[in-house]
Amino acid sequence: MPESAAEAAGESIEYERTDVSVLVVGAGAAGARAAIELTERGVDDVLVLGKRGHGDAHTTWARGGINGALGTHDPEDSPAIHAADTLNEGHLINDPALVETVTEQMPARLRELDEWGMDYSRTDDGAIDQRYFGAQSFRRTAFAGDHTGESLLDTLVDRAQSLSIPYRENVMITKLVADGDAVYGAVGFDMDTGTFQLFNAGTVVLAAGGHAAIYNRHTSRDDENNGDGAALAYDAGATLMDMGFIQFHPTGMAVDETDPEWEPWSGRLVTEAVRGEGGRLFNTEGERFMRRYSPDQMELDARDVVARSIAEEVAAGRGTEHGGVYLDISHRDADFIRERLPRMYERFQELGVDMAREPVEVAPTSHYGMGGVAVDETGETDVDGLFAIGETMAGVHGANRLGGNSLAETVAFGVVAGETVADRVDGPGAIPADLLDTLVDPHLDDLASTANRDGDEDVEAALAALRDTMWEHAGILRDEESLRAGLDALEELRERASDLDVGPVTSESFEFAVDLGFSLTAAEAVLRGALEREESRGAHYRTDYPETDEAWRRNVTIERADIGGMALSTEPVDEPSAAVQAALDEGHELDYHQLE
Ligand code: FUM
Repeated sequence: MPESAAEAAGESIEYERTDVSVLVVGAGAAGARAAIELTERGVDDVLVLGKRGHGDAHTTWARGGINGALGTHDPEDSPAIHAADTLNEGHLINDPALVETVTEQMPARLRELDEWGMDYSRTDDGAIDQRYFGAQSFRRTAFAGDHTGESLLDTLVDRAQSLSIPYRENVMITKLVADGDAVYGAVGFDMDTGTFQLFNAGTVVLAAGGHAAIYNRHTSRDDENNGDGAALAYDAGATLMDMGFIQFHPTGMAVDETDPEWEPWSGRLVTEAVRGEGGRLFNTEGERFMRRYSPDQMELDARDVVARSIAEEVAAGRGTEHGGVYLDISHRDADFIRERLPRMYERFQELGVDMAREPVEVAPTSHYGMGGVAVDETGETDVDGLFAIGETMAGVHGANRLGGNSLAETVAFGVVAGETVADRVDGPGAIPADLLDTLVDPHLDDLASTANRDGDEDVEAALAALRDTMWEHAGILRDEESLRAGLDALEELRERASDLDVGPVTSESFEFAVDLGFSLTAAEAVLRGALEREESRGAHYRTDYPETDEAWRRNVTIERADIGGMALSTEPVDEPSAAVQAALDEGHELDYHQLE
C-alpha cells in the first residue's frame, strides 16, 4: 500500500479532536430521537454526526407510515396483537423482548410526535388516521400522506433544534475506537474540509442505517445504506445477527433503464400505501395474479410473498418489458389518490404517467436489511458503551419486516437507548494511549494513503460490480451454488478494491472508497449468513431448501474470529411473553376483502 507523505516522513497524521460524553453516529430518526431523549434527561454534551445536512437522512425516503396500536378505526387492536403480527411476519425468529419494547411504546410515541407537531393525516374528527398495510390484522399504520418519514424527521429535527442539540453535518465515521471489549470513540473525516477527526466519547450510539444499497436495485439513495453501521460495529468487535435476511420490497419502480429520464428511478420505492389504499397488481395478461398466490390477503400479504409472486409472474413470461408487473389504483377517485398519495402521484405525473388513470410498472427491489448488529433490550451491543439502534440493529424484524415497523423501531429504540445511556453517562472518558498508537494512527495513515491514490480501478464501477454480484447471487431466490459463487466474486472485488483510483478526502470517490469497504463487509456477512441457514424462512428463500425447518428457529450470529475472518454460530430464539403468545394463539390476520 502506498505511504502518505506524513507516514513516509515518520510523522503522525494530523487530526482535530473533539471530546464528548455521547456521540450519536447518524442523524436520521433513530439518532435524532436518541439525542432528544438524552438531552431531555439532562445529558448536555451529546453530539450528533450526519453524513449530510440536518434533516437530510434516509428516513425522509420512508413513505407509507409508522405503526402503533392506536386503534383509531379498529379499537380491538393492541400492542400485544401488534407484537404477534410482527412475530408472525418475522417467522418467529425475532427477539420477542425487542419486539414488545417497540409495540408497547408506540401508541405513546405516536401521540408524542403529534404533540411535537407532526403533520399526520387525520380522520374527519381530527384523530390520527391509520391505514391498512401488508400482513397487519388491523389498520395500524399512522401516516402523513405518503411522506411519513420526511414529516417524522422534520418533527424530530425541529425538536432537536429547539433543545439546541449540537449537530455536525458532512462528517463520515470510518472506524470506531474500541479494544474488542469497550468503545472509546470514533475516527472519521470532515467531508467539506477534508480534515481527519477524532471523537473521544465514552458512549457511541450507532444509528447509521442498514445495508439494502449493497444490491443494484434498491430503494435507498446510492450514498446511504451501504452497510456502514454493521461494518463499523463488526470491526469494533460487536456481533452481527441474521444478516442473510434482506427484504425485497415488492413494488420498486420498473423502468426503461436506457431512458435517461427514467433510469435514475429504477428500483425506487412505490409505497406499500398504494396497495394499502386499494391498489391492485396485474400481469400482462390482465390477470389479478395475487388471487392465485394469496386469495385471502391478496396484494397485502407479507412482502416476501408478494415479491416472490411478482418474480414468478415475470419468470413465467407474464411480466412487462421492463421486468415488472402493473400496479393499478385508477379505480379510486383522483382526488382521493392526490390526497393520500401526493408524492407518488406527483412523481409519476412528472414522468408523464397519471396514476389516477393508468397503472404504473413495478418490480421487487432491495429495501431493508432485517439483520444487523446484535443488541440487548436497551440497544447495547456486546461491546461496552456501544449502542446500535434503528436499521443498524438486528432482532426486531426476524425473517421479514412488517411495513411501518421500521419508523416505529427508530423512535422506540431511540428512546430506550437514550434513557439507558442517560442513566449511566459519565463524561467523555479517555481513549487509552495504546489505542491511539495501535489503532487510531494506523487507521489515519490508511485513510491518508487512500486519498489521491492513483490506482487502476474506478470506485463507482467496483461498487456497481458489488451490487450486481449481490443481486445475482443473494437475491430473492438463492442456493448454495449461487451464494458460494457470490463469495468468490467478493474475493475478486477485494483485489480490485486494493487498487482504486481515488481523489482527495473531500471528493466523492474518497467517500465511495470508504463505502466500498463497508459494503464488502456487509455483503460477505449477508452471503455467509444466507449460506449458513439451510432452510427457507420469510425473505430468505433457498431453492435447495425450500421448506421452513422448525430446527432452524434460531438466529445466525457472526463474530470476528481470532484468526481473522467471520465466525458463524447459531442461537435459539426466546419465547414470547404470555400476553403475546395469547395474541398469537388467537390467530389474528388481515382480511384483505375489507378493502373492496
Ligand atoms: O412502502 C412503504 O411505504 C415502506 C414502508 C416501510 O418499509 O416501512
